[in-house]
Amino acid sequence: MSEPLAGKTIVLGITGSIAAYKGAEVARRLMDLGADVHATLTRAGTESITPRTLRTLTGNPVTVDMFEDPGEWEVKHVSLAERAVAVVVAPASADAIAKLALGLADEFVYALALAATGPLVVAPAMNDKMLSHPATQENLERLRARGALIVEPEVGRLASGAVGKGRLADPEAIAAAVAELLAPGDLAGVRVLVTAGPTQEPLDAVRFLSNRSSGKMGYAMAAAAARRGAAVTVVAGPTAVPEPAGCKLVRVETARDMHRHALRRFPRCDVLIAAAAVADYTPARVREGKLKSGDESVTVTLRPTKDILADCGERKKEGQFLVGFAAETDDLLANARRKLAAKHLDLVVANDVSRPGVGFDSDRNAGYLLLADGREIALPEMAKSAFAERVLDAVVEARKGKGKRRRKRQTL
Ligand code: CTP
Repeated sequence: MSEPLAGKTIVLGITGSIAAYKGAEVARRLMDLGADVHATLTRAGTESITPRTLRTLTGNPVTVDMFEDPGEWEVKHVSLAERAVAVVVAPASADAIAKLALGLADEFVYALALAATGPLVVAPAMNDKMLSHPATQENLERLRARGALIVEPEVGRLASGAVGKGRLADPEAIAAAVAELLAPGDLAGVRVLVTAGPTQEPLDAVRFLSNRSSGKMGYAMAAAAARRGAAVTVVAGPTAVPEPAGCKLVRVETARDMHRHALRRFPRCDVLIAAAAVADYTPARVREGKLKSGDESVTVTLRPTKDILADCGERKKEGQFLVGFAAETDDLLANARRKLAAKHLDLVVANDVSRPGVGFDSDRNAGYLLLADGREIALPEMAKSAFAERVLDAVVEARKGKGKRRRKRQTL
């Protein structure tokens, strides 16, 4: 699962709407995306959900009464406000929206929204008449004008039994809106081409040679690049993992197909991320029909496939940035550096695939980023989605450096 909010502290304010119990689901969805959620309940919110439920769910203390220990809350709301990358008020009652619009601070969540520097996300939930009332609409408008993101409520059956607009947006959609809002957007306008997954090389009508790649790392790279604003095309071998959101997907089977599709798209990309585990050899001949069983040994002749990344490296134009992966079992850094130079790469991600729990088919990864300028960045074990973000951080930074050097050369 992708974790775009990994390592981010988010304050979730649950207010006195009948839908307050759904606040637990919002917390869960934010946590699914990797967020460290600190929930806070207004007094009215405690009528539908208990602090204990939220404490157990989030693993963090839950503040309700900010006056219980004035010394402590003073410190707490300032330090949380500093750490929080966003304050999410979901569900937000009409009263909560009015208080946020006015800047009142009579409950912890409102005080925190005033002290926080990150964006405010508001997901209203209330009766349709209260929602459409000019007072509520004006308050929402005021919040919007100040830069708050309003996650529109849905039309559906409301607590009153009537059908109308005012039902809390789907918690998953609220969490996705928060992730999108917080994505850095530093790859906007950049065209990224990703190769992902294994390839399958047919032996006969029913058998093939392949490898253990799941496609998870390539897909995590693609999804992360799309979240950061890139236009992403993925050329993917056969995988069973969920497709990366927001990307164009081109499905292929063999190394030959992957080579053809990737090479055709390469001239129009700014960044190539070659995460595929491409077969290095393919059977020289595909037997017709199915090879029958028997007592004789069978010899299969394998011939080398074309190296997609190396071919792109040779065709590389100024301004294009190439990222390769080096899966190694011995001499990790030396072998990876050799690939960096031989394939004309800008960055190589070196993975020790003999290490248990990381790499092929795992949800986690660890390794080194080796850059063409000689820098080496060690990345400890983490979720592949978080790992992908760190690789992209390095890509964004290195492209900036390359651009500066290019401009300098042009002006000399
Ligand atoms: N790669 C590629 N096309 C191939 C083989 C590899 O595009 N036919 C890319 C991979 O996607 C990866 C990088 O090259 O980004 C390195 O792959 P790896 O298999 O580790 O390296 P090889 O060059 O094949 O070297 P070796 O297998 O000998 O270690």
